Amino acid sequence: MTLQLRVYVPPHPLIKHWLAVARDAATPSVLFRSAMTELGRWLTYEAAREWLPTQDTTVQSPLGICPATYIDPEVPMAVVPILRAGLGLLEGAQTLLPLASIYHLGLVRDETTLQPSCYLNKLPEKFHPQTRVLITDPMLATGGSIIKAMEELTQRGVDPALTRIISVVAAPPALQKLGAAYPGLIIYTATIDEQVNDRGFIVPGLGDAGDRTFGT
Ligand code: PRP
Repeated sequence: MTLQLRVYVPPHPLIKHWLAVARDAATPSVLFRSAMTELGRWLTYEAAREWLPTQDTTVQSPLGICPATYIDPEVPMAVVPILRAGLGLLEGAQTLLPLASIYHLGLVRDETTLQPSCYLNKLPEKFHPQTRVLITDPMLATGGSIIKAMEELTQRGVDPALTRIISVVAAPPALQKLGAAYPGLIIYTATIDEQVNDRGFIVPGLGDAGDRTFGT
């Protein structure tokens, strides 16, 4: 079986709504943060399908015994926000994954070369091979940052097939690089925009998500 990158754009009205709010240049930081939180929540909800580990058992209801399914608390869960902008999606993700460990990864692109460099790495030396990893980064543009993040994770034992990425706007260069390097990967994004300009910004995109989230 040949593995292929899968990119899902969930056709959900709440995701469309908060994407529209985030795209609007007139949206102030305080509302932009709300949009990121909501997008983080609903994209995580979508990504959790067939990814969150469950265990089947039975439960005694007031009227009898019935089959039941719980989330398996034994399987390690991790959320990796790519700083800074990925922090905007974290709160919404955390509300759905309260048991997940949070491992911050700080990456910043050089404004001229667009090459990412790492200024903070809170990843553990080694992940348990069964760890479910959710990466949050609202922008997948040239793909340099997300590829760097995947390299850091897979070097530490993360299985790409157990990894999900949530993003808000993804662009073809990033998707092509991810597909070539990690064909089993699954991405949930609010939209795919066709262009990345020569400054590395997705067009029409939503501008600089980090600056808009933090008002800087
Ligand atoms: C932005 C964005 C992504 C990255 C995407 O981060 O949040 O992490 O660029 O670009 P790429 O696909 O071309 O690598 P930035 O470096 O601006 O840092 P910030 O999140 O702190 O604003």
